[in-house]
Amino acid sequence: MSTLPYELFKASSTPVYYYDIELLQRTLESLVKAASIDHRFKVHYAVKANARPEILRIIQAAGLGADCVSGGEIKEALTAGFQADRIVFAGVGKTDREIMLGLSHDIECFNVESTAELTVINDLALKTGTVANIAFRVNPEIDAHTHRYITTGLSENKFGIAMSQLDEAIDMTHGMKGINLVGLHFHIGSQLTQLDSYRLLCDRINELVDRYRKKGVEFRLINVGGGLGIDYDNPDGTPIPDFRSYFNLFKDSLYLDNNQEIHFELGRAVVAQCGSLITRVLYIKETPTRRFAIVDAGMTDLIRPALYQAHHVIQSVSDDICERPVMTYDVVGPICESSDVFATDESLPELRRGDILAIRSAGAYGEIMASQYNLRKLPGAIFNNQ
Ligand code: LLP
Repeated sequence: MSTLPYELFKASSTPVYYYDIELLQRTLESLVKAASIDHRFKVHYAVKANARPEILRIIQAAGLGADCVSGGEIKEALTAGFQADRIVFAGVGKTDREIMLGLSHDIECFNVESTAELTVINDLALKTGTVANIAFRVNPEIDAHTHRYITTGLSENKFGIAMSQLDEAIDMTHGMKGINLVGLHFHIGSQLTQLDSYRLLCDRINELVDRYRKKGVEFRLINVGGGLGIDYDNPDGTPIPDFRSYFNLFKDSLYLDNNQEIHFELGRAVVAQCGSLITRVLYIKETPTRRFAIVDAGMTDLIRPALYQAHHVIQSVSDDICERPVMTYDVVGPICESSDVFATDESLPELRRGDILAIRSAGAYGEIMASQYNLRKLPGAIFNNQ
């Protein structure tokens, strides 16, 4: 069991996100150490996972770059201290304004997802007298064996350029004075718990790099995306993901040159385990068939269970829980949606009104995906280093 600061929670209004900054720092140390096995490895943090300024600043200080998917994220990353030449910009629907923002800061790389987008970036770069470094995001047609909503590397997904259309896209860049083609980008999906799919990805990358080298096209940069999963079932047993095996796999399986950079874009693996959603029990409601614990957090604060049928460990943190009998609850929120359920048949020490629960592993895609549906307030955050 982790030591969750009950006193801090008691003094806080709920729902609220709690971040264990010490765990974030240990996670970053472990990541940086594991990535240092190869001087070509560069890690960019996927800002979409959690863009809290306090968290971004710590990640920046650890030496990571930033992987952004909107103008808002680019601005937040810059504010947190990330250098523009360590910011990459991905996304299938970049607006002109967002592209201009990236160009005006001369960001490290645009990850381009279609030839239509390529043309617009070139036009805007020419208009502003700049040159955009770009990498083509390739759809490698590899199944990541994760939830279908977070699978991105299959032909039915909207992401990336089909391998069969890559020749045409690369040819187009030749006449474009606003474009500097520097690399290829891939991302097969999120919450990958088996590394096998990454091995397939490496094979695919080796094939492509080889094929284009024979045609005289060299890529200085290969971006393998993110997706390393975390242990949602046992946050205390595996607080830090196995970064070593992850980076070793790429070291062993990617056959690249000494001067090629390899970029990783990790989000969840960096921040998920350091965050918990803290909530209070409002009511216990027993119906003829179920026993509900109705809590003050809802799907507006943490949408993952409703959207991906995700299960997050729920831990009771009230002080006398050891003395209480274990009972079974459906833990539900107050939102007017039947999908507003955090867990069904969850075994917990008997719950009473006012008890505090921690919904664990919520540091990634938790607070950042919160909405104000039902005109609720956004949850806000507390930290253990306050
Ligand atoms: N790079 C690209 C191009 C991505 O699309 C993503 C995530 C990442 C990197 C970072 O992936 P990570 O290392 O965090 O798995 N809201 C969903 C996850 C959506 C992921 C979207 N793309 C969830 O709560 O599970």
